[in-house]
Amino acid sequence: MGSLVLFLGIIFVSAIHSGHEPIASGREFVDPELIDKHEVFSKPGLHKVDGKDWDYELVFVVSAFNFNPGEVEIPKGSKVKIIATSRDVVHGFEIAQTNVNMMIEPGHISTFVKTFDKKGEYLLLCNEYCGTGHADMKSNIKVV
Ligand code: CUA
Repeated sequence: MGSLVLFLGIIFVSAIHSGHEPIASGREFVDPELIDKHEVFSKPGLHKVDGKDWDYELVFVVSAFNFNPGEVEIPKGSKVKIIATSRDVVHGFEIAQTNVNMMIEPGHISTFVKTFDKKGEYLLLCNEYCGTGHADMKSNIKVV
């Protein structure tokens, strides 16, 4: 009985008090209703940045059943911070043949920093079941 109480206590503390959640990048929030007015998410796409540890920021607004922007071209060798959120439900964000693999949740901001060293076309796909259009939810990243 004691160990059960201890176990539930640990879950309770990690879930409620410490804000346990499946995002490695920390706790950043955005109101899905205000995405179009948000300073970052109102401008989806690839943006050159200065004075940061990365060369570009690639902003995605993900929704059923597409990625915005659709096709993206990234100059070879660029270090890119991907910044993404969802308008509606939980989506996946996987760039095939790379280690980019995130869960995109409404209300949360997910980020991943990646250097694109090899030229080519990479499939961007949703790997979390999100509804009837899930199987067709994909796009293209071109490294040129
Ligand atoms: Cu979006 Cu599956």
